[in-house]
Amino acid sequence: MRAPSECDPNAGCGFLENAGGTADILTLHVARAPGAPGAARWSGVDRMSESAAPGRIVRDESGRVVVGDHAAVVAVAQDPTTFSSAVSRHLQVPNGLDGDAHAEARRLLDPFFDDAEVEALTPSLERIAAEIVAALGDRPFDAVTDLGARFAVRAQSAWLGWRPELEEELLGWVEDNRSATRSGDPERTSEVARRFDAIIRRILDRRRARPVDDVTTRLLGLHWEDGDPLEDAELVSVLRNWTAGDLSSIALCTGVLVHWLAANPRHRAHLVDADGPALDAAIDEILRADDPFVSNRRVAVRDTVIDGCPVAAGDTVVLDWRLANRDPAVFADPDAFDPVGNAAANLVYGTGPHVCPGRPLATRELRVVVRAVLAGAPSSSSRAPRPSANCRRWPATGRCRSGFSRRRASRRSRRRRRASGRRARWRTPPRRSRAPAGWSP
Ligand code: HEM
Repeated sequence: MRAPSECDPNAGCGFLENAGGTADILTLHVARAPGAPGAARWSGVDRMSESAAPGRIVRDESGRVVVGDHAAVVAVAQDPTTFSSAVSRHLQVPNGLDGDAHAEARRLLDPFFDDAEVEALTPSLERIAAEIVAALGDRPFDAVTDLGARFAVRAQSAWLGWRPELEEELLGWVEDNRSATRSGDPERTSEVARRFDAIIRRILDRRRARPVDDVTTRLLGLHWEDGDPLEDAELVSVLRNWTAGDLSSIALCTGVLVHWLAANPRHRAHLVDADGPALDAAIDEILRADDPFVSNRRVAVRDTVIDGCPVAAGDTVVLDWRLANRDPAVFADPDAFDPVGNAAANLVYGTGPHVCPGRPLATRELRVVVRAVLAGAPSSSSRAPRPSANCRRWPATGRCRSGFSRRRASRRSRRRRRASGRRARWRTPPRRSRAPAGWSP
């Protein structure tokens, strides 16, 4: 496995490549469908991609082919011989690799996420989540920064065997990375990437000097199949992809999930009693409809066609997971909550040879943090606000089916929420969101 070894300024496994857009895109609204319990719906995202709509393939301003059609996203992701993942001149293990080198890296690294690893980590995750939720008390909190990012950093540190003292430094880095990515300033992104590499190199040096029985030490002991040990640049890249991507994605996913729980008290009642697999399926489905993980890139290695659109060798192709996950050709009602029916087509964790290896760990982390939040939330829906008889839904047009105006609906809803002491609106930073204090509906 040999690849160019240069520090990658776009830290992470491509998770944040469109993070600048994420802040605008993830503006959520509470909407409830009338009728039976379980009929709660999302109102949908305010704005979809800048450049593409669900079910479409377009070129954006910089000439990249943006694929939002579910079938086309799957086809591209599952055809690594036509669409290479070597999109960066920097070393990215395993995400920037193709073919045999990629397969070898996955064989080496995937065992770090197997069932036994995740089970062994679960008691620590539960303790961490319970501590953080308890510390939040009854005060309003920011679901991303106060809960998600803190939980992600502590969970990662527990998994990798990193010292708790690193927490503030890592949290500061997550925040700086987010704003640097959003700024689009390459100087700033390079600087935060260098800082992250320095943190990781420091940790690796310490582990080499004093090995202990943890994931980081085991990583240091890995060898490629030809017997060569992993070089430092490769180790740094692996850890960067594990941590930088994970910290942000878990933090944002937590924000989406907490918002949804706040907005859907009836489902909350069901989820409190759900077993692990049922809760995991619900979480996957919530993330499908409001996927905070925007996109990944590929580069075409030859002239080809995607669903009738000509693509030239060298073209960058953007797989827009978020659009694909709401493609009406596959999800007839993208807002409907159907964990079982939608599971097979759910692309939150990608598909094809680059499908997320961290899924088992991410799934368990999210299950644990949701359980901790649910434990502090009332399960009864008896006092939950009921959907208005007039306002069935707030579609993107801004008008309800009944003609009830969105502004009036919004004013009414704000009054209702104020009266009930909860903020049902959640935005990704920089706009601060407040999760409901004490969860009183
Ligand atoms: C909810 C959290 C997460 C989401 C939504 C997510 C999503 C994804 C997606 C969509 C891909 C496919 C990328 C592509 O096809 O180019 C991916 C790949 C990857 N993910 Fe995750 N991920 C999450 C958590 C994690 C965690 C916890 C880790 C590790 C600790 C991780 C490590 C990776 C790596 C290394 C890759 C690249 C795999 C390859 O290229 O072979 N992810 N992830």
